[in-house]
Amino acid sequence: MEKQATEESVVCDHWNWPESSDFDFFRRLFGERPFQFELGLKRTKRDWFHLPKNQEIAVLRDRASLICGNHPGSVFWTPLADPVFSELTERFGSIQPSSTGAIAAAELSQRWPPDFILLHRDGNGEFRMVGGAVCFPSGWAPEEKLGLPIGQIHEPVPTLNRMLGDRIQSFLGRLPSQDSFDRLNWGLAPQAERNRHPLAQVASFTSDFPLEKAWLRVEHQSFHALPRTNGIAFLIHLTIHSVGQLLGDREITSGLLRQLQSMSEEVARYKGLAKVRESWVRWLIFHQDSLNQSVKGSESPFDTIHQTTDGDKNAD
Ligand code: HEM
Repeated sequence: MEKQATEESVVCDHWNWPESSDFDFFRRLFGERPFQFELGLKRTKRDWFHLPKNQEIAVLRDRASLICGNHPGSVFWTPLADPVFSELTERFGSIQPSSTGAIAAAELSQRWPPDFILLHRDGNGEFRMVGGAVCFPSGWAPEEKLGLPIGQIHEPVPTLNRMLGDRIQSFLGRLPSQDSFDRLNWGLAPQAERNRHPLAQVASFTSDFPLEKAWLRVEHQSFHALPRTNGIAFLIHLTIHSVGQLLGDREITSGLLRQLQSMSEEVARYKGLAKVRESWVRWLIFHQDSLNQSVKGSESPFDTIHQTTDGDKNAD
C-alpha cells in the first residue's frame, strides 16, 4: 500500500475498543440469558476502513511478525480472491494498494488491525472462502478452510449449522451493500497471545487453572457486501482482556456464571472449557456471594480490584 493517506482518513483510537474499564460492554456481552449461539447482528455506522495513525501499535507488530515469518494461515489465497480484494481496497478511499493479490493483502494486513476473510458467491449461490489474512485465529486453521462453503466451515462447531445455518446463509445472501453489520464472539484462553492457530502450539486449560488468570478473547466481527465482484469481506478484530480485572463487577460475574452453567457439554468441549467449567462454576458461585456480602456491608467490590487496563493485551 502506498502511504498517501490524508490526516482525516487515519484514526488510531478505533482500534483500542473496548477498554476493560468499560464494564457495560462486558455486562452486555454475557447478557442476562442462558448461553446460546446467536446471530446477534447489529447494523452499525462504525467505519472499519481506516488505518491507525500509530503504526507501532502492538497488534500491527504481531501481524507483521507472523506475515513476514510466513506463518501458516496468515495469508491464504486463490485467484478468485483478486477481484474481491480490489473492491475491498476501494473502501479505503485515497489509500490504494501499490501491488495486487496476495502480496497486496499481506501489505495491507500489516497496516490494518482486523483479520479479513474474503468470500465469493459461486454459480450455485453459495459463499465460499477464497482468500484472506488471518493472523489471530481462535483455534482453527484458515488454510484448511480455503475453498469451503460456510456450512462446511462451521461443521466443527456443535449445533451451529442446525440452529443457525439457514439464517446465516440468508443473511449473507441478502447483505445490503450500503450497510455494515457487526456481531461478537467470545472465548477464554489461558494465555494472552493473540495467535491461537493450532500449529502455534499454545497451551489449553489444565483442570486446576484459576479463572482469575484466564484471558477473555472478544472477536468484533463485521460483514461488508462487495456486490460488483459477488463478494463479501468478513472482518474480525480481536481484543483480549484479563478476566481477573472483570470479576470485580457483580453483573459480569453473574453473567459469566450463567453462561458457563448453561452451556452444553459439547459446546464447552468445543470452546476448550470442559476441564475447568465445573470448578469455575463453583468458584464463581462463591465469588458472587462474597461480592453480594461486600455490597451489603457497603464496601464497594471495586475497593478490592486492581482497575488499570495495563494487563490488557489490546491496550496498545
Ligand atoms: C452471521 C454469520 C455468522 C455467524 C452467526 C457465525 C457464528 C459462529 C459461531 C457462533 C462460531 C463459534 C465460535 C465460538 O463459540 O468459539 C463460529 C465459528 C467460526 N466461524 Fe462463523 N459465523 C458467521 C459467519 C461466518 C463467516 C462468513 C465465516 C467465513 C469464513 C465464518 C467462519 C467461522 C470459522 C472459521 C469458525 C471457527 C470454526 C472452527 O472452529 O473450525 N463464520 N461462527
